[in-house]
Amino acid sequence: MIELQGRKALITGAAQGLGKAIAELFIERGAQVMIADIDAEGAVRTAKALGPQARAIRCNVTDSAEVAAAVQATVSAFGGMDTLINNAGIEIVKPLFDNSDEEYDRLMNINVKGVFLGMKHSLGPLVASGRGSIVNISSLAGTNGVPLFGTYAASKGAVIQLTRTAAAELRPTGIRVNAVCPGFVGTAMVDRLVPIVESIIGVPFDALVAAKQTRLGTPREVAEMTAFLASDAASWTTGSHYILDGGLSAGLL
Ligand SMILES: NC(=O)c1ccc[n+]([C@@H]2O[C@H](COP(=O)([O-])OP(=O)(O)OC[C@H]3O[C@@H](n4cnc5c(N)ncnc54)[C@H](O)[C@@H]3O)[C@@H](O)[C@H]2O)c1
Repeated sequence: MIELQGRKALITGAAQGLGKAIAELFIERGAQVMIADIDAEGAVRTAKALGPQARAIRCNVTDSAEVAAAVQATVSAFGGMDTLINNAGIEIVKPLFDNSDEEYDRLMNINVKGVFLGMKHSLGPLVASGRGSIVNISSLAGTNGVPLFGTYAASKGAVIQLTRTAAAELRPTGIRVNAVCPGFVGTAMVDRLVPIVESIIGVPFDALVAAKQTRLGTPREVAEMTAFLASDAASWTTGSHYILDGGLSAGLL
């Protein structure tokens, strides 16, 4: 079992979904976590549900000052910070050139700039900890072109490249930086996209998922991969991205 004893983690977008599952597993394995989310009430609700090892802060990951404040709050609450999970992200599901300029900018700001700001503002405490680890939540979409998910795929591809470059540049500091690339996972994000995908492609989403990845992944399965990468068990792992997709990317048909 992966141990996270004593880890002090900031997790963005952790009020619900994957971020919440990651926070829950991290606490089970001995970590303290700061739940940072633009949904302030949801963050507080989740932190309360997770117990005394969890704290909450409102944080819009596109706002540099709010990200810096979330890092500072983590350091103050736990006496340091050694783990950053950049999880906050949004989706747009529509043909690529139907995206308005504003939609494109909004998605890139949250999914890409948010990851950049999270890493940038965390460097000081992560270096000071002597065991800094960053896990960026990308997507299987970041490794392929994906009809209907064009802006999203581009943003998640950018997350992989930010991960690689950060890992290479930060190698001398000892900070490890990795990315996780899930296929479809059962969260509110998938609940939102199912009717849109079905209405455009005319195939039941369940049938698509059953054929290509057996079933939806669970948030817990993504949390397990994230916990491994954050932990000392992954001590020689940096600059890589790890796919978990029930085999979706393994074959062409
Ligand atoms: N669910 C999937 O199938 C799937 C697959 C691959 C990757 N992902 C990625 O996993 C991450 C989490 O997705 P999820 O499925 O849990 O989605 P979700 O919509 O259930 O949760 C996303 C969380 O991010 C928060 N958030 C949104 N914008 C924010 C902002 N500007 N600042 C701070 N927080 C913000 C939301 O309030 C919410 O709590 C995302 O980066 C997503 O792209 C999800």
